[in-house]
Parts: sequence; C-alpha cells; structure tokens
Amino acid sequence: MSLINIDNFNASDERRNSVDIDRGREYCRQLEQGKIFYFDHIPFNFPKEYLTFLLSRRQQNTRFHKNISFRPQTNLLRGFPASEKKDFARLQEIMQFYSGQVTKFLAAFLPPYAEKRLLDYASFRTIEENGRDLPLHKRNELLHVDAFPNRPTRGGRILRVFTNINPTKERVWQIGESFERLAEKYASDAGLNRIAVQSASTSGKIVRHTSRFLKKIGLPVADRSAYDHFMLRFHDYLKENTNYQKNGDKTRLEFPPNSTWLVFTDGVPHSVLSGQFALEQTFIIPFEALVSPEDSPARVLEKMCRKSLIAV
Ligand code: SIN
Ligand code: FE
Repeated sequence: MSLINIDNFNASDERRNSVDIDRGREYCRQLEQGKIFYFDHIPFNFPKEYLTFLLSRRQQNTRFHKNISFRPQTNLLRGFPASEKKDFARLQEIMQFYSGQVTKFLAAFLPPYAEKRLLDYASFRTIEENGRDLPLHKRNELLHVDAFPNRPTRGGRILRVFTNINPTKERVWQIGESFERLAEKYASDAGLNRIAVQSASTSGKIVRHTSRFLKKIGLPVADRSAYDHFMLRFHDYLKENTNYQKNGDKTRLEFPPNSTWLVFTDGVPHSVLSGQFALEQTFIIPFEALVSPEDSPARVLEKMCRKSLIAV
C-alpha cells in the first residue's frame, strides 16, 4: 500500500534525539520511493479562527488563476482581489503563518531535509475540483507528475504537504503506478532520448548561450536541465494520452476533513477528482539532499536513456 499512516508523531515536542534522526531518514527514504505519508489531523498548530476565515473565502473561478498562490519569501499573494484590502492583508498574514508552521513541522518530521530544503510557493485551493473547466494541460483530474515551467529543479524533487481544511467533505485523489514503471512504459514515447541527445549536442549549447544572453540583459529565464525539459514534456504527454488516462493503473484515495498528507508529486502520478478547500506548501529538495538519489526520477530516467540529464 502506498499510504503510510502516522499516528505517533508529536511536532510540538522540541527534543529530537538520534532515534528521531534515524526514523526521519527512513521516512525520507520511503517518501522518495513513492510512499505517501498520511496524518488524520493537522500535525501543526493552526488556530480555529484562521480556518473559519479561510472557509469564508470565495475565489473567482477564472481560468487565469488556478488557485490562490502565496510566495512566503516575498509575501506575494496572487489570485485574490487586492481591492478587498482588509481581507487581502488578513489572508496574507494567515498564509505566512501557515507556511512557517509547515516549515517547522517538516524540520521536525524529516530532519535530514531541514537544513537543505528550499521553501517554494504555497497555495490555497478554494474551488471545487469536480467539473472545473480548465485547459487540458492545467486539468488536475488527469493523472500526471508535477513539473514547474518557471522553477526548474535540475534533478531536485518536488515535495508537497497538503491539508484538506474542508470541515465536511473529503478530497478525492487517484494515484498511479510507480515512476519506474510509468517511465518504462511511456518515457520513450514522450521523447526521452530525443531530449537527452538534444541537450548534449550543439543545439543545447546554443540554447544555453541564448539563455545566458537573455539573463544578462535582465530577462527572466528558466535555466532548465535536460531533466527539466523532459519532465515538463512528460507532464503534458501524460495528460494528452487518452489511452493512459483511461486504462492506466489507478488507485482511489479519499482524504477526510482535516487530514494532512506529504508526497513527492514529481514521482507519484496523481490527480484530484473532487474536493474544495485545501492548503498546500511546496518544498524543493535539492538533488544533493536526497537520502535515496538512485530512486529519484532523474536517476531512473538516466538509467533508461544511458545519458546524463542533470549536471551532478
Ligand atoms: C495536483 O497537484 O495535481 C493537485 C492536487 C490537489 O489540488 O489536491
Ligand atoms: Fe499535480
């Protein structure tokens, strides 16, 4: 079973000893191998009045902002009308608090990542997922692995912590087979070899020169490794593949109100079928910080195509 239920972890206990460190290492390994860690409660402090405020929010259902997103480093909140000044500031404050709490919790639960994880964006998902009208590549009810167009990881991994804050309704996911099996079946067809060869060749160098030039003149460029190119393609490829969507392996998971789960969404194929009101914080775990790098999508893909996809 891919779900591991944690019922004996106390995040408020500050004392950590070597047993916690060893256990944390084992947890990291299991997560990196595709397990999902599950808590039937919120494993950090989150005041009830914050929940009440969040549940009273209504986001405009536009195709432009998929969720309300929050960047903890810069306090930037997007997808919520800035004209609603008072609520905007309150939401910013709550998202900042949430981010801080999840970060502390992660440091206690997974000590091996504590010093090295990069704090990425958080999100507040206010829109009912069932029946959303989004463009194909943004549709979340289709199984996929995550990759960010504007934040390449160069082999680093995407760790996400979700909490279903809906007081009455579960959040329903589907998960697919292991990354290794998924890649065996579909990576070639998605263009793994072409992308690996291209980025090792001159055309790859030209792209690198161009991107250096664009950066010099001050334009933001995502510095993608071959791995990032492939993962972006793979995300789209899987969503486009109607045969995979229809016939691929899937298991249904129901996350009840107030439950929290942690998962590497770049390695576990997933989709959300229904649910409304979830909080989510993303961390990037750099490749060098992985406990089991040989289980990472980057290494699995490199083994398949026998080419280097990341510069480590
Ligand atoms: C996703 O990462 O694909 C969406 C998951 C969710 O919103 O529950
Ligand atoms: Fe996703």
